Amino acid sequence: MTAGMTTVAVIGLGRIGLVVGKRLLAADYSVRGSDSSAEARERALRAGIDVLPTAQEVASGANMILLALPPAAVTPVLSEIQGSLQAEQVIVSLAGAVPLDYIQELAGPTAQVARIMPNTPSLVGQGMNPVCYGKHLSASGREQVRNLLVVLGETTQVADEQMNLCTGLTGAAPRYIFAVIEALAEAAVAGGLSQEEGIRMATQVTAGSALAVLQSGLTLDELKALTPLQPLDEEASKPLFRQAVETAEKKMDAVWAGMTR
Ligand SMILES: NC(=O)c1ccc[n+]([C@@H]2O[C@H](COP(=O)([O-])OP(=O)(O)OC[C@H]3O[C@@H](n4cnc5c(N)ncnc54)[C@H](OP(=O)(O)O)[C@@H]3O)[C@@H](O)[C@H]2O)c1
Repeated sequence: MTAGMTTVAVIGLGRIGLVVGKRLLAADYSVRGSDSSAEARERALRAGIDVLPTAQEVASGANMILLALPPAAVTPVLSEIQGSLQAEQVIVSLAGAVPLDYIQELAGPTAQVARIMPNTPSLVGQGMNPVCYGKHLSASGREQVRNLLVVLGETTQVADEQMNLCTGLTGAAPRYIFAVIEALAEAAVAGGLSQEEGIRMATQVTAGSALAVLQSGLTLDELKALTPLQPLDEEASKPLFRQAVETAEKKMDAVWAGMTR
């Protein structure tokens, strides 16, 4: 099924729902959505997304239904739409913390479900979007999910149990990377460069370093050896990032443990 023939219902048009919705619109998908927040609905309308009053209406007749909802909203929304789901519809949950098995249980024993964890760089088609597929996805359902992921960037298949780790590793990590860019830019400004120049230089060195890892064929150690000046105590700073990933993972575990279901 081509993008132009695919209707995607985005339930939850907040930060990530809007990122994904806009990206799909730009890729020629037909996108409509719903949200309980008037502000979110307004932003989505301005982005060109059709907004309907209820989750039920938005889901009706859509090929794919994306749940871009806070974890606590997944149960009520899926319960609302469950009775009218059609066998060929594919439900893709973007919600943090909520396991795919639970989505399956709510959507129905043979419903076609998948779970993805996009991130902010998905905004420009450069996201890392881990995925896990439900066992009742048909070949065409899986293809629809894969096509959607191509629009968002790269993907990798993981086990459902690894999704909370992925939340820290790829979902939340742009936040740490942006902070690195910000800190480098602040150093540039402190040294007398303009903020614009500082951000431009810090951003290029971050993007260039990532591309060198992806494209040079060299290992991280080999690349580090090409950059002998080492003004930062790397061994002392690495635990900060490892801890951030672990903290995000534990936070997701705690959200799920505390969820009413
Ligand atoms: N942001 C990211 O980078 C990212 C990445 C990957 C996955 N996720 C996951 O995606 C989900 C959404 O995250 P987000 O950052 O986009 O959150 P968000 O900005 O708060 O967006 C969620 C939207 O859903 C609305 N909503 C809440 N309950 C609803 C209901 N019952 N029916 C319809 N709409 C409802 C919210 O409205 P109100 O504000 O009025 O509650 C809000 O506009 C979370 O589960 C998160 O873990 C986020």
